[in-house]
Amino acid sequence: MSDLVSERALNGPASPGAAVSRFVRACLRQSVDRTPVWLLRQAGRYMPEYMAVRKHHSLLEICRTPEIAAEVTITAAERLGVDAAIIFADLLLPFTPMGVEFEFLAGEGPVVHAPVRTVEQVRALRTDRVEELSYVAQAIERVAKHFSAPRADGDQLGIIGFCGAPFTLASYMIEGGSSRNYVETKRMMYGDREAWPLLMAKLVEVLVTYAAQQVEAGADVIQIFDSWAGALSVTDYREYCLAPTTELVRRVQALGVPVIYFGVDTASLLPAMRETGADVIGLDWRVPLDEGWKALGYRCAVQGNLDPIALFAPEEVLRARVREVMDSAAKRLGHIFNLGHGIVPGTPVESVIKTVEWVKEFGAR
Ligand code: CP3
Repeated sequence: MSDLVSERALNGPASPGAAVSRFVRACLRQSVDRTPVWLLRQAGRYMPEYMAVRKHHSLLEICRTPEIAAEVTITAAERLGVDAAIIFADLLLPFTPMGVEFEFLAGEGPVVHAPVRTVEQVRALRTDRVEELSYVAQAIERVAKHFSAPRADGDQLGIIGFCGAPFTLASYMIEGGSSRNYVETKRMMYGDREAWPLLMAKLVEVLVTYAAQQVEAGADVIQIFDSWAGALSVTDYREYCLAPTTELVRRVQALGVPVIYFGVDTASLLPAMRETGADVIGLDWRVPLDEGWKALGYRCAVQGNLDPIALFAPEEVLRARVREVMDSAAKRLGHIFNLGHGIVPGTPVESVIKTVEWVKEFGAR
């Protein structure tokens, strides 16, 4: 990893008081002038500017072309006036250097044509070609350069790199795409005492290197998406996923950045997710924010958790729901406003912009 280690990583975690971004400060539960806000899938198909780019390029072309990925990232952050920009990429990109071919089919989402179901297939997965993902780091470099100067309000925009968590990535690899019941994933998890731990270990290896590239390129924070962890019982999460996920979190933190760990439908998993040591836990909308934070023992920051579909509600209802999330956080240190999951296609852009404005209004200290 030597030449990947950034100055930031060598200098260790941001020392208290050093962070100039209210987003990073909130991740570290430091004081802020107002609650920071950004939104899951803030650059996506609901946005006309993104669709204009999508007309000429496939999703993977956008991801793999640093100029375009950076432009999409920057446009969304500036249009919405948010406090952080998440790099435009996809969870599945690391599959390619691991030797797992996939594509995105219109209306179906990701498809892996030869799902990984046997120990031989797991053994064949490559972990030595992660440098092929350097296009993501190159996009981050461009975004970091663009946002290097403080904004009009004196705040530095936060730059978020991301990767999937071992369970969620394994589920796509094993199922071959999105899944309802995760039968094949759980079959391997319960039944193959060699394949499952090896798959978890290989994913962690790849993801740590990938995250290191992103941090070196200028990511201030890494978000780990465990979108489908909510499919697991608490017992199974603890038995099969907690250890590799904890290893990933700790090794990313050792690069010198805070980690946000996010999943959906995780109310019962929160105490176990907290044990990963993540600096911030992302909450979905099904758990009231204060209840979720309490379940975490108030021992980390939280990010969330407006229902993304509330963005379709009439203005007064939406405003009340934004207020409810903010009241629920009660201006404790370490709240980052977000949605409980990603913005969906068809969401009115005006509602998204208003939501950001209301968070700024309600969240002022
Ligand atoms: O602005 C941002 O949020 C950054 C962009 C981003 C994308 N994917 C681009 C994308 C992020 C953070 C992701 C992560 C991702 N990818 C996740 C975790 C986030 C979550 O929602 O929990 C997951 C599960 C994936 C895998 C994936 N990629 C799926 C299941 C799909 C299909 C979803 C759909 O609605 O069709 C994708 C495609 C994808 N990735 C799109 C975008 C903007 C939409 C497709 C397109 O533009 O053609």
